[in-house]
Amino acid sequence: MARAFLPSGLVAVVALACLADAAAAQLRQNYYASSCPSAESTVRSVISQHVQQSFAVAPGTLRLFFHDCFVRGCDASVMLMAANGDDESHSGADATLSPDAVEAINKAKAAVEALPGCAGKVSCADILAMAARDVVSLTGGPSYGVELGRLDGRSFSKSIVKHVLPGPGFDLNQLNALFASNGLTQFDMIALSGAHTIGVTHCDKFVRRIYTFKQRLRYNPPMNLDFLRSLRKVCPMNYPPTAFAMLDVTTPKTFDNAYFDNLRYQKGLLASDQVLFTDRRSRPTVNLFAANSTAFFDAFVAAMAKLGRIGVKTGSAGEVRRVCTAVN
Ligand code: HEM
Ligand SMILES: *[C@@H]1O[C@H](CO)[C@@H](O)[C@H](O)[C@H]1NC(C)=O
Repeated sequence: MARAFLPSGLVAVVALACLADAAAAQLRQNYYASSCPSAESTVRSVISQHVQQSFAVAPGTLRLFFHDCFVRGCDASVMLMAANGDDESHSGADATLSPDAVEAINKAKAAVEALPGCAGKVSCADILAMAARDVVSLTGGPSYGVELGRLDGRSFSKSIVKHVLPGPGFDLNQLNALFASNGLTQFDMIALSGAHTIGVTHCDKFVRRIYTFKQRLRYNPPMNLDFLRSLRKVCPMNYPPTAFAMLDVTTPKTFDNAYFDNLRYQKGLLASDQVLFTDRRSRPTVNLFAANSTAFFDAFVAAMAKLGRIGVKTGSAGEVRRVCTAVN
């Protein structure tokens, strides 16, 4: 996906990052304390039920928030569905967003809308930010207060998506450039990559790393040989499109720092994961997070707050949607 790094995409993300600072000033914790005091507890309870029914909701929700914020800012544009198929979820880059997570967010929104006095008050963008916070602590990660006060966007289109999201074959320069254009440092980027401590990747995203004779990779960081052999069983050369592997081979359902320890043993699944250890410039941070989970959790919480400030819409630039799947 490296070739997706086109100038047009860059211009768009740079423009978003410039908008972020001014709008982000209006975000604050406990934003709904007087207008809809039960909003946060209601979202948490709905999301928690859905995670219990299907673990996939947890990683799915975290990834949904990341893709929302990188595409047009954190404005729930990722949730919009268009009858003509020109919505973000129909972009190839977003095709594997979890339907279970989308469903959980829609249910959380409906539950909040039904609270007395809350109809039309709480944005889908904020519900997504709350839910992303909730799935982190529900799976063993840190608990944190989340900044709120975003409005939902009114525009969307699938064409922009592949230009503004990172690809699994990105090297450190590409990762740093894309995250920097969103106001995030290399340190933030490494911490946020720690979200790959839960969830899955389909075989097509890394299969070239385990059958390199099939297609020469421009960049392929080293992989542990036992890990490679086990992945060839999970993804044989004629793998079905539904086949997938865990992003964190050690503790795939726990939000912990094992993802970083895996990288030290060349057990990173995506090239973009393993490069964080292979490249000498990012390796010290991987070692820090692998050795000290408090340092990882602190950095993750700080970086999630910065992620949540990207391209925030306020005032006439947005609205509070009645349902997350459609503009009012
Ligand atoms: C650093 C650059 C990143 C790259 C190249 C990347 C790439 C990917 C890819 C290719 C997948 C697998 C999609 C599939 O096959 O289904 C994935 C899954 C995932 N990503 Fe990332 N990602 C990055 C950063 C992030 C960030 C910043 C977050 C959140 C803070 C995140 C959260 C997730 C989660 C939780 C999953 C698992 C989804 C699931 O199981 O449904 N990723 N990512
Ligand atoms: C781990 O990181 C935390 C937070 O940065 C720090 O306060 C603590 O001293 C570190 N612990 C060790 C053993 O280095």
